[in-house]
Amino acid sequence: MRYISNPPDAASLMMSARSFGNYDLAGALADLIDNSIKAKAKVIRLQCLFNDGDPKIRIADNGTGMSLDELCKAMRPASQNPCEERAPDDMGRFGWGMKSASFSQCRFLTVLTRKKGQYSGASWDLDSLDNWNMGIFGDVEVKAECSKELLDSDGTEIIWRRCDRLSEGKTLNNEQFNELIIHARNKLALIYHRFINGEVKSKKLTIELNGIPVPDYDPFHRKHEATMQLECEPLKMGGRKKIRVQPYILPHYSKLKPADLDKLSGDEGLLKNQGFYVYRNNRLIIYGTWFRLLKHGDLSQLVRISVDIPNSLDEIWKITVDKSDAQLPSILRTRLRQIVDGLKRRSAKVFRSKGGKVSEHGKVSVWTRYVKNGEIRYEINRSHPLLTALFTDASPDLESKLDGALQVIEREFPVNMFGDDFSKGVERINQAEANPEHFMDFLSASLPGVLSECNGKLNLMAERIRNVEPFSSNWTLVEDFLTKEGWTNVNS
Ligand SMILES: Nc1ncnc2c1ncn2[C@@H]1O[C@H](COP(=O)(O)OP(=O)(O)O)[C@@H](O)[C@H]1O
Ligand SMILES: [Mg+2]
Repeated sequence: MRYISNPPDAASLMMSARSFGNYDLAGALADLIDNSIKAKAKVIRLQCLFNDGDPKIRIADNGTGMSLDELCKAMRPASQNPCEERAPDDMGRFGWGMKSASFSQCRFLTVLTRKKGQYSGASWDLDSLDNWNMGIFGDVEVKAECSKELLDSDGTEIIWRRCDRLSEGKTLNNEQFNELIIHARNKLALIYHRFINGEVKSKKLTIELNGIPVPDYDPFHRKHEATMQLECEPLKMGGRKKIRVQPYILPHYSKLKPADLDKLSGDEGLLKNQGFYVYRNNRLIIYGTWFRLLKHGDLSQLVRISVDIPNSLDEIWKITVDKSDAQLPSILRTRLRQIVDGLKRRSAKVFRSKGGKVSEHGKVSVWTRYVKNGEIRYEINRSHPLLTALFTDASPDLESKLDGALQVIEREFPVNMFGDDFSKGVERINQAEANPEHFMDFLSASLPGVLSECNGKLNLMAERIRNVEPFSSNWTLVEDFLTKEGWTNVNS
């Protein structure tokens, strides 16, 4: 046997690298931001210029920069073997990130960098790749092209030109370009929210887009008092490698400002955005999926679960080049299934407990339970005899006032407090009147109204209230009351 060198064709390989992964603009920018974070950058400036229909995008950081050697290595496709274990804070993968992310959007990539005051620059032009020839910039050329920030301090700037794939190959007008940029900004606000808000220690990050800081957007809206944080489940995989699973329930829409609701709903709505939010090294890599463990709508659309994985578990997660997808390893699948099943049971139980009476066969209850899209809502039953008595009694104006009052009572039902009490022990909750004397007072206040509704016919009244709460479960007391009042022939 003899061996010949059989290298890939440069142009074909680079062209196919354009389709590695499944990048959109935000995803591609995020891959470069990951590199900047790894290079200890604290500020990242994105500049997206429409440039009369020939967009130009610059991603500049104030990280450590690269030497010429490091730059040449970095520009090389597949610059690092994916099997090598990486530092825990490393967000890269496969040594393809910068190249495949950039070429997913543009045909001409320039990298300018400064390390310890030394400038280097290099570029790949997909339209001129003969023999893997890469352009190298001299000191003067770098200084002529870089931003003033790089003239002042170390860092790296990446420039995309000939951006032919910003929007699935469509030519964009100025307005569409701006929309695309706003969409990308919102996604970056979500992907890096933990870095932007400073909760990742010593890694507080400022991302600017066209001179304006990108805000942090917390998908769990943890600052809101009505967000419920359920128990956290730490899972161990492969010895010390820990995965953290933390379920949240978002505040009900009635408790949110319209702008916050818009943000939480995103373009696709709350239901599509429920599910797992998977973080790798604090960077959100995939979100709004149940990994086929549940269907969207099986649980309330307000349920979101954060899952934190260290990058040392990449192998078992099968992270793709653009990090936008990860397959669940089977051990974790089993555990996550238990967690979502627990949540399902829990929500079913909450609504069965006191609400058991709600749907008990043949009884008229005070509360009505509605289920839609896996979400449960309780309303006061307006056809309850005590209420119909009030409604029919009321003038038209009073009727709407009454209904308004009931709506307020329904909306202000203390769901979170109730959920919390319930989780601490359902037996502690008792809504029934403990004091028989108070119940008798209630009967003397309410029954005359019902009796007059029944045109003073005792039998009719008894028939009406016998299966109606709260009379039916306190029937002996009702009978006592009726006897006391001399209304004795209720059984006849
Ligand atoms: N902004 C940057 N600052 C400093 N070094 C960088 C920067 N971007 C890329 N590099 C270097 O280039 C290498 C290759 O990056 P990349 O192509 O994204 O592959 P990966 O991140 O998967 O290793 C990185 O490992 C890093 O050493
Ligand atoms: Mg990278």
